[in-house]
Amino acid sequence: MSTEPLARAAHALRAGHLVAFPTETVFGLGADAMNPEAVARIFATKGRPADHPLIVHVSTAELLPELAAAVPAYAHALATAFWPGPLTLILERSAMVPDAVTGGQPTVGVRVPSHPIAVQLLREFESLGGRGVAAPSANRFGRVSPTTAAAVRDELGALMNPDDLILEGAPSDVGIESTIVDCTGAAPVVLRPGSITDDMIVAATGLALGERDASIRVSGSLPAHYAPTATVVLDVTPQPGDGFIALADHDTPEGVVRLAAPGSAEGFARELYAALRAADEAGLARVVVTSPPGPGIAVAIRDRLRRASHGSSER
Ligand code: TXA
Ligand code: MG
Repeated sequence: MSTEPLARAAHALRAGHLVAFPTETVFGLGADAMNPEAVARIFATKGRPADHPLIVHVSTAELLPELAAAVPAYAHALATAFWPGPLTLILERSAMVPDAVTGGQPTVGVRVPSHPIAVQLLREFESLGGRGVAAPSANRFGRVSPTTAAAVRDELGALMNPDDLILEGAPSDVGIESTIVDCTGAAPVVLRPGSITDDMIVAATGLALGERDASIRVSGSLPAHYAPTATVVLDVTPQPGDGFIALADHDTPEGVVRLAAPGSAEGFARELYAALRAADEAGLARVVVTSPPGPGIAVAIRDRLRRASHGSSER
């Protein structure tokens, strides 16, 4: 994409409009983080409760001191190791960050994405004086995150205003949301697993991971989330008429609708959300998913699958 549409999008953000944009994890629904009215429109458009905080996206870790009041050494180590990339750091907020973004919490989530369109958009926005684009995944609250611009259009297009924009871009490469690490204590605490794994965090910081405090709100950590309309059932034999998502080495039984057959756990993450959307588009009542085994990104996939299937495991 030439930079001209991105300059236009950056101006739209500065004028208080919403801009959905691709990132390497999933597509985000962005607003100027320093404009509480624009941020309020994210919540209205998503149908998201106002007390669920948003991640602030910037083009460079150099802006961290403006957004965060305190950045421990291990958080710097994580930023150096994994930014730009699929990692969100939770830090003590600076006075500059509005309550609308943090849900009134004393912390702020910050991420430097690596997707070239996201990076260019953020640079253009910052060149206009912008400081951070607040962006949740561009889906209705509790639903499957979008990994393509078409999925954003289907899900939110009718709810957006004429001056809002949806940026095109190749499908998200990682396919599941960023790893979220709470950096407000003595040691890093993983709040949401992702493609940056526990082992990678331990290796980058030289610290053992801390335990999670259940009082911290992470909407992606609610038991039911990431759910399509179809019922998701894990690790059972699919029946005729079911949708089926499993690694390529699993055969498709007769009469079953194969939605994805990725060759690796990374491919599984990349294809999962589009496959769940395809199940709904095909009007399937039930999708059977065979969880990918092992460590690495498979841990985060199993986390999402547990939530997508919440309440439906007996069906
Ligand atoms: O990969 C991603 O992280 C994508 C892309 C667009 O960057 N964004 C994303 O945002 O997944 P969202 O809002 O769908 O999920 C962000 C999660 C939410 O569960 C929210 O509660 C949590 O991050 N979060 C944000 N700020 C927080 C904070 N200050 N403390 C604790 N959790 C926070
Ligand atoms: Mg989300």
